[in-house]
Amino acid sequence: MCGIIGIISTNGNVSRMLRESLKRLEYRGYDSAGIATIANGIIFVKKDKGKIDEIHRMLNFDSLPGNIGIGHTRWATHGQPSRENAHPHLDCSGMIAVVHNGIIENYLELREELSKLGHTFRSETDTEVIPHLIEEFLKSNKSLEEAVRQALLKVKGSFAIAVISSKEPDKIICARKESPLLIGIGNSQMFCASDIPAILPYTRNIIVLDDMEMAVLTPNSVTIRRIDTGEIVNKDIIQVSWSPEEAEKGGFPHFMLKEIHEQPRAIRDTLRVDEKALEIFVQKILTADKIYFVAAGTSYHAALAAKYMLAKLAGLGSDAIIASEFEEQFPGDSSGDSVLIAISQSGETADTLVASRIAKNAGVCVLAIVNVVGSSLTRLADHVLYTRAGPEIGVAATKTFTTQLTLLSMIAAKAARENGMIDLDEYIRLNTELNEMPRKVRDVIERIEIKVKQLSKHLANCRNAFYLGRGISTATALEGALKMKEIAYIHAEGYPAGESKHGPIALVEPGFPCIFVAPPDSTYHSIIGNVTEMKARGAEIIVLTSKSCDDVIKNANTALILPEVHPILSPIPYIVPLQLLAYYTAVERGYDPDRPRNLAKSVTVQ
Ligand code: AGP
Repeated sequence: MCGIIGIISTNGNVSRMLRESLKRLEYRGYDSAGIATIANGIIFVKKDKGKIDEIHRMLNFDSLPGNIGIGHTRWATHGQPSRENAHPHLDCSGMIAVVHNGIIENYLELREELSKLGHTFRSETDTEVIPHLIEEFLKSNKSLEEAVRQALLKVKGSFAIAVISSKEPDKIICARKESPLLIGIGNSQMFCASDIPAILPYTRNIIVLDDMEMAVLTPNSVTIRRIDTGEIVNKDIIQVSWSPEEAEKGGFPHFMLKEIHEQPRAIRDTLRVDEKALEIFVQKILTADKIYFVAAGTSYHAALAAKYMLAKLAGLGSDAIIASEFEEQFPGDSSGDSVLIAISQSGETADTLVASRIAKNAGVCVLAIVNVVGSSLTRLADHVLYTRAGPEIGVAATKTFTTQLTLLSMIAAKAARENGMIDLDEYIRLNTELNEMPRKVRDVIERIEIKVKQLSKHLANCRNAFYLGRGISTATALEGALKMKEIAYIHAEGYPAGESKHGPIALVEPGFPCIFVAPPDSTYHSIIGNVTEMKARGAEIIVLTSKSCDDVIKNANTALILPEVHPILSPIPYIVPLQLLAYYTAVERGYDPDRPRNLAKSVTVQ
């Protein structure tokens, strides 16, 4: 998730506005940034690794000349944060500059095709194929607009782009497919931007581009066309009433709620996995004589879910170890090809880094699943797979959890297919369901949010709660409990439902809330008994289940109905109501879900 901005004006130099707009987009990505402007038929570029203010202090963005320009603040997905990989990217001639937010899935084949035509590349990014494609189409005397349109028809994946050219310095071309892009209509100046905060100080009149639409901006006009047909499109102008702070949260009251709602996009972007990297992970796992998962907090719950996925789907045993406990549990020297899979949103969690170093020093192959490109864990690991959740501002992990589960499901499915534990039909079913997951998660949020918000008003008065599940739902239950603990400060305990009679049930009194994660999987018939044993003691029964699960529903005070999915995928839709429940309970109790007490987003100390 990156931030892009484009400005064309008759009111003079635009470089300072570009920089200030990028600053307001920094929550979308902040590992590198850059600006390109045009003056006297020349494109000027300043860009580097680092945050906008740091780069500005070194390079002085405001010194860029010209009344037309584009800017970019990056959240790396392809290629480490570096000056070469920072946007804008240029073509060979240096007469075309492009900024991009999104993922180009076919960039390798396009890069190869363009290299054969003599194009030279300076970066590792997927984005850089765009200016070279435009350059290629401009050779057949097309207009800049038509060359951009033809170039985008060759691109697979997602994009929000802004393009300028010293050949046609009187216009900005912008376009979108899946990544957000809006047009700001100013007074003798026009804007295009990833999000409203960027342009709010200059205009409240916006046009939201839809997928496969492109626009040509001059200081006093905007022309919108379909990318596929070239037909002109008429769009409504919208008045924005948000404050700048509301705009940064996309109109949501807190980043956490915004990020819960972002999960469909985050899952969809994560599904666009680097197939070669995925294959390396799977081969390392299939040839390992011992498999360790290691992580902390929410990432540990993803690791625990992965343990169930590998066992149930691929018939592979593994250990899911809490990072701070790894040193005490690791048996030391590793004979053969053990593999450790370290999972970390930040890639900076000290416990997870220490555990990974211990394993690496013992000869274990370290694989990492990380959200932050260039983080410490990515440099320590032998191989890395990235979640593409984008920056997670809320301290509580939400979209990074479901994107970790998405990647782990893909790994387990591929491993099970390659070792023959599942047939092609089940493999296709799993991948089909994964591709449908963004829509299913969106449906869950739309259908269930109001009911969960009502439930939170009751839970806000409780001091304790049990979160119970069996099998892979144990991981979901533990994660739901952690969310409620860390942002609503209710003592919520998650544990395998079969354990109740071994002790915890002693705590149950009339009205004690017991939240059951009960999808219709192989554990369903066992969990019915766990529900009734709690009900018999007067507990308040809240169940997350499917509409076909009558035995559980009839014993519940509240039933939250989730879609039926493949058993190993159930944690993805099932965690969403529990994220919302924790969020709304925290708000009901008067707490700030984005800044929970005593907690930091990344625990870089042991
Ligand atoms: C989860 O909501 C917490 N923010 C915390 O438990 C977090 O998951 C844990 O500190 C691990 O962080 P990491 O994924 O960045 O390694």
